[in-house]
Formats: sequence, structure tokens, C-alpha cells
Amino acid sequence: MIGPKVYETVADMRQAVDAARAAGERVALVPTMGALHEGHLSLVRAAREHAGHVIVSIFVNPTQFAPTEDFDAYPRDSEADLKLLAGLGVEGVFMPPATEIYPPGFATVVSVGGPAEGLESATRPHFFGGVATVVTKLLLAALPDVAIFGEKDYQQLCVIRRFVRDLDIPVEILGGPTVREEDGLAMSSRNRYLGTEARRTAALVPQVLNEAIERIDAGEEASTVLAEGTARLTQGGFAVDYLELRDAETLAPVDAQSARARVLVAAKLGQTRLIDNMSLARPANGWR
Ligand code: PAJ
Repeated sequence: MIGPKVYETVADMRQAVDAARAAGERVALVPTMGALHEGHLSLVRAAREHAGHVIVSIFVNPTQFAPTEDFDAYPRDSEADLKLLAGLGVEGVFMPPATEIYPPGFATVVSVGGPAEGLESATRPHFFGGVATVVTKLLLAALPDVAIFGEKDYQQLCVIRRFVRDLDIPVEILGGPTVREEDGLAMSSRNRYLGTEARRTAALVPQVLNEAIERIDAGEEASTVLAEGTARLTQGGFAVDYLELRDAETLAPVDAQSARARVLVAAKLGQTRLIDNMSLARPANGWR
């Protein structure tokens, strides 16, 4: 099996992208922080459907972690990641050292309002500044035709769509559906932090979400349903940051059943913070 080419500098990756373009290929980028799981791999497979040349970036971005958060503990396993990506026939992997992305004196932040306000920002005010800055840099570094992000991080996807449009970055942004474990838990690199009992409890998050959207869809008062869902999570041992019904595009609060609405949740179980969301639009099958 021939592994992907690994690039550590923007210049090297650009050269490869230019060569692929000159050969008539479309280019797709899948940004990640590594510790890859099926959720990431589903995005890589989707990328392949849109481009002959697929690049995955692996960069644990320090600016999206607060000093109190898990930057040092964040799982890193580039050997396993490269093996998985080789198995999918990925052409290139961009794994820059931090100084390539943030050279000495770095002083710029991409600051997004609108969909970046509230929800995650209420607990993690630093987060979207870090994400928008690094994703802008990755998009400008790779200059792909298309970049793919997961609906798992739904607010992040909305924020990325917003600044790409606002800054006229010439790339198409696609969202991929959330990949779940058998009990419904959304796959996440951070699930590795969960002990056996906490892992079992974590399934309450998709259960509460699923029940909430079914009840709201059936016409029940959203505020009542969400308050009960919050209480169930709290009884289950979670510290709930939010459980809210929002417009699927603007993320503005909505209070009634609509196919454009989405329920989003963030809750902490011990030290592990889980986020998830589901759509009120009817799915073809399975979880929404
Ligand atoms: P990371 O958490 O590694 O996720 C990389 C991409 O995989 C994101 O677009 C995320 O939404 C998607 N993803 C994660 N779990 C998924 C799942 N269960 N199903 C489908 N997609 C899933 O998100 C980030 O990294 C970073 O913030 C990044 C965008 C790379 C910027 O640093």
C-alpha cells in the first residue's frame, strides 16, 4: 500500500495541489485534528466523490483551546492516522508544525459574529476565533475546490459557511452527516476519555436529543420538552451547558416545530464535554 505524501509546509502542499490541478484534477480538503475515527473517514470518502486529489490536514490547533482545556491531553496518533488514510487512498496529508501555522509575531484573528454567537461561545468564548483563523489559513494554504466538515460540529459548520461567504474564499463548503456508534453516541476523538460506565451513560445524549425532536415534531411545546430533556441529562449525571432549538442556517433561536430547526446540545460528563445535534427535518432512515 502506497501511503499518502506528507507535507509539513504550505509551500510543499501548494506545489502538490498545483501539480494536481495542472493534471486536470479537482482538489478536496478535509481539515481534522487527527485521532481519526469513522466520522472523519466518512468525510474523506465523501471528499473522494468530489475530487481526484484528496488532502487531509492533521493539526491540533492550539488557538481553539483555552489554557484550562485539553490541548496537551488531546489524543495524538499520527502513525495510526496515516495508516487509515493510506487505506482510503488519500493523496496528501498536511501535518504542519505549529510554527508553520503561527510564525513568531502572528497577530491576526478571524472574528465571526452571527452564527458564532451563543451556544459554544457562551462556554468557550475563544473557540470560534481559533477555528475561523486556522480554517481560513488551511483553506488559503491548500486552495481546494471543495472542503468538507461534519454536521457533528454543527455550529462550527455554520460559522465556516458564514466566513467563507463573507470573505469570498473561493471554495465550496460541504457538510457530512454525523456518524454514530451503535447506541447513537456521536463519534468523537474525545470519547476515548470516557471510562466504561461514563461511556454507557453518554448514550443518554442522543436519546434525549432524539426524544426531543420527536416530541417537538409531534407538536409539543419546545420549551417544555427541552426543560425536561435538560432535567433528564442532569439526573443522569451531566452538567448541561445548553439544550436548544435553533434555526438550521442562522442558528437564531426558534420556538416552534419547523423542518428548518435543529436541536443542539452540549453537556459535560465528569471532565469530558460532549456535543451533538439533530435535525427536525425527516431523515431517510435512522438518526437525524
Ligand atoms: P476534529 O474534531 O478533528 O473534526 C474534524 C472534522 O470531522 C470536523 O469537520 C468534524 O465536524 C468532523 N467530525 C467529527 N466527528 C464526526 C462524526 N461523528 N461524524 C461526522 N463528522 C465528524 O473539528 C475540528 O477537528 C477542528 O475544529 C478543525 C475544523 C479541524 C479546525 O481545527
